[in-house]
Parts: sequence; C-alpha cells; structure tokens
Amino acid sequence: MKVFISRPIPVIGIKLLEQAGISVTQWTEKRNLTKEELMIQCQQFDALINVGNNAQKRIDAEFLQACRHLKVISLYSVGYDGVDIAEATRLKIPIGNTPGASNEAVADIAFLLMLAVSRKAFYYHQKIINNQWGFTESTKDLGFELHNKTLGIWGLGRIGFEMAKRCIGAYNMNVIYCNNKVNDQAEKELNAVKVSFDELLAQSDVLSVHVNLTPETQNKFNKNAFKKMKKRSIFINTSRGAIHNETDLIEALEKGDLWGAGLDVTNPEPMLSSNPLLTMPNVAVLPHIGSATEEARNEMAKMAAANTIAGLQNKRIPFPVNPEIY
Ligand code: DGY
Repeated sequence: MKVFISRPIPVIGIKLLEQAGISVTQWTEKRNLTKEELMIQCQQFDALINVGNNAQKRIDAEFLQACRHLKVISLYSVGYDGVDIAEATRLKIPIGNTPGASNEAVADIAFLLMLAVSRKAFYYHQKIINNQWGFTESTKDLGFELHNKTLGIWGLGRIGFEMAKRCIGAYNMNVIYCNNKVNDQAEKELNAVKVSFDELLAQSDVLSVHVNLTPETQNKFNKNAFKKMKKRSIFINTSRGAIHNETDLIEALEKGDLWGAGLDVTNPEPMLSSNPLLTMPNVAVLPHIGSATEEARNEMAKMAAANTIAGLQNKRIPFPVNPEIY
C-alpha cells in the first residue's frame, strides 16, 4: 500500500506509516501542489495525507471523483473546510482529521494576539526596526488593560475553552459565549454564560472566533457585525480568514468602530505585504501558525498516520470527519 503526502510531516508520523508496511512518498518541493497536480499524483497511490491549503478548497467534487480509488484521505489539520465532505461521503471515501491535537497551541496564539493587540506590541516592534524609537509622547499610542474585561467566544469548543481558561487565569475575565449547543463543562468550570450572537457582539471587550468555516459562518464578521461591537473592543480570529470580511474589518478599524484586531488567519491567504492591516497600530497579524509547535505538529502527524493506516487496512479510521460512511 502506498500513501502520498502533499508536504513533509514530522518523522514520527512517517515512522508509524512505515512500521505498518506502508510505502511513503512526500512532496518536498517548496511550493504547494495545484489541485490538478495533486489529482495526477494521487492516481499512483492508495491514500493521501493532505497538508495545509484549506483556504483553496481543492479537495472538491471534481477531485474526489477523479480520486475515488483512494481508500482514505487523511487531513493533517483539524479544519476540513478544504474538502467537499458531502461528496466524499457519497463516494464512501473516509476523511480523517486531527481533532484536539492543537488545542493548546492555537489557544496560545489567540491569547498572544489579544495581548499583542492590547499593548500594540507589533506596532512598537516595527517602530524600532524603522529607527523611530526616538521621542515618545506619554499620552499617545496607549494600550488598554484586560483585567476583569469580558471575553466573548464564538464557538466555545476545545480551543475556545483553552483560550477562556488562559484569560480567566491571567486577567480574571468574564466569559460569555455563543454556540448552537450549551457547553455544560464551560458553564460549570469557567462560569461561562451563553448569549445570542448579537449579545456577544454588544458585550465583548475581546471577541475571539473559534467556529469552523461553514456556509453559515462564512463572512459573518462583516460591516454589520463590526458596527454592533463595542468601539473599544478587540476582534481575534485564529480559525479561518473567510469568517471575516477583510475590507469591512479595515474600514471598521479606520473609522474607530473597533479598537483593534489580531489575526492568525487572513482573507485571502497569504496576505499581501501591502495590506493596510500590517501597518495599523492596533493590529497584530501572524501567518496561520496556530498549530506550529513541535508538540502539536507531532500529535497531528501521529493522528494523520493512524487514520491512514486504519483506512488502508479497511478498518474504521479513528478520527473520521464523515463517520456516517460506516
Ligand atoms: C488546522 O488544524 O485546521 C490548522 O488551521 C491548519 O490548517
């Protein structure tokens, strides 16, 4: 049995695959394969481990129909918005992901962005680089403190829970959240209070997005939503860039409808270096590095390998996105 991996993954995952008798080929060129190239590659293989590129939705119906021979498509990610899951299910192709592997790592990045924005850290760093340390006015470019403020979480699941824990531990923040379902654990352990989406917008001092990208969540943070937020609030997105409208976000920040923004995901990705967000004082942007720790990436590699091995052995994969195929 042979697996194709669309970008190198940690060696721990490769070893597991090889120990299971699977022949591994990794794409090692320093560029992303196009959808067409990936489709051609997959013709020679029994399974695919797909790394990154969620924003481009390249595992679409056309791809899946051309690659219906694959015994499993194992995503090296938690997010599965790059895949047409309904079509994969119709074709009975198991799709696996890596839930839970990056909870701590992504929550750390959300927390880091919140703090960096609240103290304009990236902006001040740029000033040093641009030789502008010089004279500073003591009433200008001040940050705002997070103690006892309200954290709003949109999509309080595993990662949102970790973000809330950090904010309570460090700043005694009050936690409100908006979910379809009640999160009993968060209500019990974090005193989190469930609110409507509009209440979340109106009450949050920091609003952190942790929902999956779906047709319902896409473009949800647009002009309308930003207008309903507090003028002195911070918007954080570590989930998917397509959840916010970047033009509307820039406008809201310029008009002062929003105090600041921290993004680990942008719309589109990659962000152009000319994007005005990169030079705004109250903005911090990172290039989608939420899961980029050794611990998280190793765990993702193990889970992606486990899904692949089970799929190739015609067994139920341990972390299925579409369990309904079984
Ligand atoms: C994930 O795990 O979904 C990360 O965002 C990487 O795409």
